Amino acid sequence: MMEDISIEALSELEAVSELSRLNAVIAKADKAYYDEDSPIMDDAEYDAIRKRNREIEERFPSLKRKDSPSDRLGTPPSGKFAKVNHAVPMLSLDNAFSESDVADFVTRIKKFLGLEESEKIAITAEPKIDGLSLSLTYRDGELVRAATRGDGQIGEDVTVNAMTVAEIPKKLSGKNWPNLIDIRGEIYMSHKDFLTLNKREEEAGRKTFANPRNAAAGGLRQLDSKITADRRLRFFAYSTGQTSVNFAASQIEMVACFKEWGFPVNDRFVAVESVEDLLKVYNSIEEDRSNLGYDIDGVVYKVDRVDLQSRLGFVSRAPRWAIAHKFPSEKAKTLLEAIDIQVGRTGTLTPVARLKPVTVGGVVVSNATLHNEDEIARKNVRVGDIVFIQRAGDVIPQVLRAVDADRVDRGAEFEMPKECPECGSVAIRDKDEKGELEAARRCTGGLICPAQAVERLKHFVSRSALDIEGLGAKQVELFYEKSILRGPQDIFRLEERIRSLSLQPLQEWEGFGKLSASNLYASIDSRRNPTFQRFLVGLGIRHVGETLAGLFAQNFLSWDAFWGNVVRASEGGEESDDFLELMAIDGVGSTACRSLIAFAKEPHNQSMMEALLKEVAIVDAEPVSLDTPIAGKVIVFTGTLEFMTRDEAKARATTLGAKVSGSVSKKTDILVAGSNAGSKLKKAQELGIETLTEEDWLTRIGDREKIGLF
Ligand code: IVH
Repeated sequence: MMEDISIEALSELEAVSELSRLNAVIAKADKAYYDEDSPIMDDAEYDAIRKRNREIEERFPSLKRKDSPSDRLGTPPSGKFAKVNHAVPMLSLDNAFSESDVADFVTRIKKFLGLEESEKIAITAEPKIDGLSLSLTYRDGELVRAATRGDGQIGEDVTVNAMTVAEIPKKLSGKNWPNLIDIRGEIYMSHKDFLTLNKREEEAGRKTFANPRNAAAGGLRQLDSKITADRRLRFFAYSTGQTSVNFAASQIEMVACFKEWGFPVNDRFVAVESVEDLLKVYNSIEEDRSNLGYDIDGVVYKVDRVDLQSRLGFVSRAPRWAIAHKFPSEKAKTLLEAIDIQVGRTGTLTPVARLKPVTVGGVVVSNATLHNEDEIARKNVRVGDIVFIQRAGDVIPQVLRAVDADRVDRGAEFEMPKECPECGSVAIRDKDEKGELEAARRCTGGLICPAQAVERLKHFVSRSALDIEGLGAKQVELFYEKSILRGPQDIFRLEERIRSLSLQPLQEWEGFGKLSASNLYASIDSRRNPTFQRFLVGLGIRHVGETLAGLFAQNFLSWDAFWGNVVRASEGGEESDDFLELMAIDGVGSTACRSLIAFAKEPHNQSMMEALLKEVAIVDAEPVSLDTPIAGKVIVFTGTLEFMTRDEAKARATTLGAKVSGSVSKKTDILVAGSNAGSKLKKAQELGIETLTEEDWLTRIGDREKIGLF
């Protein structure tokens, strides 16, 4: 038989027919394995056949088939995954936890669109698959790229791995697909395949996976696509990203197209017209939850009509036209073994429950937060109690209450330490703006508290701040312990600090080596030019997180201008113009401004900043310039609008980069006047400000068609 002939001995003609035979055998084996769940050969045999196929191709490169199985499984990408910029961001969904949240969702939509509460609107419902979202780009009907969600804007290129997922079509079937389309959906693993996988892992003495989602995630982000193939991942299509043409007027039509083009779609997908019916679907899906054969964590509702979806638009990262109605979180009972205190970056003392390990929702839980001392008193839990705990999605597990709080032989009530367990400084409860006691007790040690110092350093190097690769929590703790790192400025002098403390060079430390030491120094150096926003986030100032840092960056653009303002405000106090200037930024409140100036006043922080600014050069922010006819303009709406509600009009203007203001002033660029406009119109005319009718406005922003005006 030909399969016995060694590759060296094959003639060209024989090679052609052998490649054809191997292709058929591999295709058959793949079908049996992926589609029918009944492999016809063992892994070793399968590998040997693929290897023979590859080696023949290597000897006769010109004979390699267009549909070669080698390309189907692909070669692993070297190193990390390439980054992919999503043409249309991959969004998340807002959550509804109760029936009234669902009713509010529908009311909100009708209000936004200016519909009567009694008017019907079609809404679809389908299971929320507990997997990972994936975006698949098809050009001329061929799969050309697969990308994970990542941060929503930038994901990872996992094309090679997606190619091994049998349920993902490599070529679209049917007809009428757009030349360019991103199909979005969920990658997941069935319960059956998950159990088989874990059994195999266990038999091989490897670690098992906590839940199907983790196994699927690990499977998709494999550098070795053979492992991906091995996980038997599955896929449901449920939405789109960019498309070259609009091919569907509704979700129903869209899903029908997906099906025609060869994608698996969820068979519990339906459309209804009332809140009661949505809730009926929710209850029936929840009832069948354990029989579906895969994990789901809720039901997703979407406005059916695509034109209404586009009018509704988005709020930050979630669409207004969809919501996830989550199932109640899973609960479990276990023993509360101890309560420890953790000290955070800003000094907050958080009581943490140490629990006898228990599985909740597929994950082993051994710690849970108890939030603060009032919570412990309110829940009346004590060490030694059996407690209920709950876990919802990725949220930190929580202790709910004691199972049997009437017992006579209970332990003592928990007493919150009045001193920081890490540095011994007094721990106090501050008063908030209204003069009420804050929930959190805080260590007053500030920079002398090692726990706070370490947490601040970890924060400084973390993903949302300077994002220094190779310098994680473990390394920060190690360097802190050896007194190498005291403040963030020391990070940039790491090598020098090690030398001056007469320690061995890093490359000789256990677990480091030459390469990882030089990589670490290089990655630190690569972060000497942080952006304004990242740098400010990195300082870890209370109440100044990513959103506020972004606002300050956009408003000041220059770091020096901003910090100069903060320093002057810290000297001038809350009455100063400099303080008011910070407060004037839309979205910035007094709590954050006070916290900023308190930080700037503190002498330790001043010397830290001075040293740190010698090490880094902060890159000023760029103004966000949207290329739209109204970007950067100040718009005022007045009078009664006919084609859209005031909310919709404002949201649309903001999306297009304009600022919406409530009153007319010299700063106003455009006044949009609906019918019965009164004093604002008059004032605008007096000031010579451009005024537009509602229709002019729709023309200006190119929305006439969208709203049904032709
Ligand atoms: S629609 C713009 N439908 O849930 C709306 N998402 O919490 C796009 N998910 O990132 C999402 N099942 O990964 C949609 N049937 C479903 C879903 C679903 C699971 C995931 C998706 C999304 C996340 C948001």
